[in-house]
Amino acid sequence: MRLVLVGPPGAGKGTQAEFISEHFGIPKISTGDIFRGNVSGGTDLGKLAKKYMDAGDLVPDEVTNAMVRDRLAQEDARDGFLLDGFPRNVAQAKVLDGILAEFGSGLSVVLELDVDQDEVVRRLSGRRSCKKCGHVWHLEYDPPSSPGVCDRCGGQLYHRDDDEPATVRHRLEVYLAQTSPLVKYYSSRDQLVAIDALGTVEDVTERAIEALKPYA
Ligand code: AP5
Repeated sequence: MRLVLVGPPGAGKGTQAEFISEHFGIPKISTGDIFRGNVSGGTDLGKLAKKYMDAGDLVPDEVTNAMVRDRLAQEDARDGFLLDGFPRNVAQAKVLDGILAEFGSGLSVVLELDVDQDEVVRRLSGRRSCKKCGHVWHLEYDPPSSPGVCDRCGGQLYHRDDDEPATVRHRLEVYLAQTSPLVKYYSSRDQLVAIDALGTVEDVTERAIEALKPYA
């Protein structure tokens, strides 16, 4: 399955990506995670990306597209993948079509996580991410058993810089202006399946797996 997840910041894309990729045995490719890895590694790509991420803006397309192309060319993505955070605008979607055509394949399906703005703000303000393994927790909805420590790997938890309220507001504006047109782009090609992303993590995972079964 060649799958793209779409949804506003905080919809639960990263959370669901972990379960979906495990269930269907496909690698999870998150552009946000790749950028954050580069930021913490102090690479040139990380230094460039950080300026845009801290402001809640998109990293320029040419940088992001080249990074995704390299990742999709790797062996483990040949028979399927889950893209989380890419494409982020129609121009990136067209580049993705071109990359996949070059590799002799195409997208199987795009899954939209549908959630309202108030819930997104609640989810992002309570999010805590692990510095070591990247797992995401939530102070209220999915709290770690010891504050500040990841139950999975013992890593330190942190609040992402771009989860500050003013940056969240801007990221939502960017989503509405630049990313939400993807819903029309993919639905006009009959490639979009939407699910309600409200409810517990387990409920949403169940809905996602059920919706994706026909494409596996
Ligand atoms: P990115 O990391 O992709 O951020 P995002 O799309 O804004 O999404 P988030 O990671 O904030 O949210 P999510 O939907 O994954 O939610 P999560 O599962 O964590 O991108 C960051 C930045 O990188 C961008 O702003 C941009 O600068 C750059 N970038 C990335 N890709 C790019 C691209 N293609 N082009 C250009 N620039 C790019 O869940 C949120 C919280 O809610 C967690 O605490 C979780 O525990 C909790 N939660 C999840 N599900 C539930 C549930 N069902 N019930 C209760 N709580 C839940």
